[in-house]
Amino acid sequence: MSSAVLVGTQWGDEGKGKICDLVAPEFDCVVRYQGGNNAGHTIVCGDKKFGLHLVPSGIMYENVTPVIGNGVVVDPKVLIEEIDMLENEGVSTKNLKVSGNAHIIMPYHRDLDGAFEECLGKNNIGTTKRGIGPCYQDKMARIGLRMQDLLDEGIFRERCGIALDRINPQLEKLFNLPTYTVDQLWDEFSAYAERLRPYICESSLLLNNMLEEGKSILFEGAQATLLDIDHGTYPYVTSSNCTAGGSVTGSGVGMKNIDRVLGIMKAYITRVGMGPMPTELSYDDEFGHKLTEIGGEYGVTTGRRRRCGWFDGPIARYSTRINGLTDIALTKLDVLSAFDTIPVCVAYDCDGVRYTSVPEHQALFAKAKPVYKEVPGWREDITGCRSYEELPQAARDYVDLVEELAGCRVSIIAVGPDREQTIMRSWN
Ligand code: GDP
Ligand code: IMO
Ligand code: MG
Repeated sequence: MSSAVLVGTQWGDEGKGKICDLVAPEFDCVVRYQGGNNAGHTIVCGDKKFGLHLVPSGIMYENVTPVIGNGVVVDPKVLIEEIDMLENEGVSTKNLKVSGNAHIIMPYHRDLDGAFEECLGKNNIGTTKRGIGPCYQDKMARIGLRMQDLLDEGIFRERCGIALDRINPQLEKLFNLPTYTVDQLWDEFSAYAERLRPYICESSLLLNNMLEEGKSILFEGAQATLLDIDHGTYPYVTSSNCTAGGSVTGSGVGMKNIDRVLGIMKAYITRVGMGPMPTELSYDDEFGHKLTEIGGEYGVTTGRRRRCGWFDGPIARYSTRINGLTDIALTKLDVLSAFDTIPVCVAYDCDGVRYTSVPEHQALFAKAKPVYKEVPGWREDITGCRSYEELPQAARDYVDLVEELAGCRVSIIAVGPDREQTIMRSWN
């Protein structure tokens, strides 16, 4: 298998963890390239269920090297907790590697995440409050601390002092919050440094050496296309490039190495946090309620109820374009077995103009009225289907409609949360 990027195509929680875990054994390495512990990726294998936030979903296989790339923001405490959780469950983390260039989420980033949200009032983003935005902000402002800074007390103290000169006045004067000292932070972080020292490496070199040896890499995206800082529904986005392009900058690998881009697409839509969502259904609506409860749409990271809506064709087409998708993994098709008929959004009506992709300006998107096509449901259990041919005709038609709207082939179909509950159609 050649190298591939796996990317979320909607607003996150499409089932990236499941599909990544499923295809990981075809690769020698799985690398996370952006985001942080705002992500929550679920893996279900038999009676075991794991919710991963930082560690790549390839961790379940001993012969797959899991790498946290330079584009990720790492909360060392969360990483240590996740390593401990996995080891306690009998999953080895001995091959895990973390880029020395990955930025560190500091306690003040979490404080500021909460304070900025409060400051925005009704315009808040609905962040996960994990300090993601403020950490990327400091990275760009060139006052961040990186994983390699943990390895040298002098450098840590120097970098920390520079950061605190800018951060403390904000905490104190703008938000009336407690400030930090270098001594206090080194006390906490020196313990993390000792634990994480063996994992920290020059990951770009590691990955490129693997490629030179003819090995293959799977780039695991977190969040999704509509949450991308450049291509998402700004400002209601996360602070990184979640789209396929982020895979190269977030890992230090050349573009010529990527052969396929697999978009993970849920058979309907969910969103956590604020911002526009044209096909949203109210939780009080019979169908909205059913999608939420049958789909189990509650966040892995914050436990928040996800907003649910019907499949959005213009978003699918937009994601194909922005990411250069070569393949789609359509997930949670089994959840739609509960409906007699299924409305599918095939276009938007924005001020009387029809759009089959996301309109060029946010103001238009905010006004987008979905144009629905009602398709028949299948009303039977499909969780046991293992080929496209075994699916009821109406379910096959649904898959075909997704392909037509997205403009890309559906190569994998997930019909349940377990690894086994999957139809491999044309992925390999
Ligand atoms: P991610 O963030 O994209 O990895 O997705 P999450 O793990 O946050 O949310 C996806 C949820 O759907 C998890 O609870 C998965 O176990 C579950 N899931 C994934 N694929 C399927 C599927 O095909 N059918 C059903 N019923 N559940 C699925
Ligand atoms: P996975 O990888 C769904 C959303 C938050 C908020 C916005 C910004 O599991 O799909 P942030 O804390 O990143 O500054 O929040 O992004 N968000 C996610 N929504 N799934 C995720 O990750 C998300 N990560 C962030 O709810 O709206
Ligand atoms: Mg998730």
